[in-house]
Amino acid sequence: MAKDCCLQKRLAEPEAVWRDGSTTRARRPPRSVELPAVADFISLPFYDLFSENGHVPEIRKNLPPLLTGVRRSILEIGAGTGLITTSLAGWTPAEIFALEPSAGMRGILLSRLSSQPELLNRVTVLPCDALSVTLGGPVEAVVMINVMYALEPDYRKRLWPVLAASLETAGLLVFTWRDGGPWAPHPLQELGSRQVGRHTYAVLSEIADTDGEAYRARYLHRITEGDKIISEEELTGYAYRPPWNVLERELVTAGFTQAEGAEGLLAWRLA
Ligand SMILES: C[S@@+](CC[C@H](N)C(=O)[O-])C[C@H]1O[C@@H](n2cnc3c(N)ncnc32)[C@H](O)[C@@H]1O
Repeated sequence: MAKDCCLQKRLAEPEAVWRDGSTTRARRPPRSVELPAVADFISLPFYDLFSENGHVPEIRKNLPPLLTGVRRSILEIGAGTGLITTSLAGWTPAEIFALEPSAGMRGILLSRLSSQPELLNRVTVLPCDALSVTLGGPVEAVVMINVMYALEPDYRKRLWPVLAASLETAGLLVFTWRDGGPWAPHPLQELGSRQVGRHTYAVLSEIADTDGEAYRARYLHRITEGDKIISEEELTGYAYRPPWNVLERELVTAGFTQAEGAEGLLAWRLA
């Protein structure tokens, strides 16, 4: 079975509240939901809270120079909640195709777009996964920010030719990548927390084991008020960090030549 198919989601049962006002944990076992292959470790309510101060500022600093000269069309793979989509629209006059398979993420993306109505005639939201992309014509650039970890190796290998077919001659492909292979195993630890009114939103992660470029991760998304747990969502599954030589071979085979990138970003051009 492909490793990415086994992502598991577990939601803690909320506390039961009795008539006398006392509370107790419900006795039913936690619900467990099998997520489809394109799902990943995201808990929707947490995403913007943690990303606005996470990878997004660095991308907003390093990506614009790579897009100099891009004016007509951009395909964004894994657009998420649109944090990068709206920036792309601000940096370039290009028409944007924001591809996002998760209905929940698309909902937030569309909400973000509707708060900037001037973008509604320039951004098309594509409700599909990357391998299923079909466009009316080739685009000038493809951008893929923080998506690689969610792509199982065989899926990723099949993706590059699909992106090549979506690009104009000499089209630009930019995506995030970090060297160093999978994260080292570590026990459950807090990655960060944000305060929202009386509640604390915390993200914890554990890396259980690694296997080549894959690592098995467990994420807990926890909301608390003081000592009381309001909700807890657990996601476990595999993520991927391909090494340079593997990635280079896949991209060259698909017809790409490396161009000058930036900190945390690789750039490739279709030959
Ligand atoms: C960490 S989020 C990044 C979102 C956005 N690019 C950003 O930087 O804020 C990863 C996104 O990739 C999407 N994704 C996961 N697998 C995908 C696939 N096979 N094709 C396209 N998008 C995918 C997820 O639904 C999620 O929205």
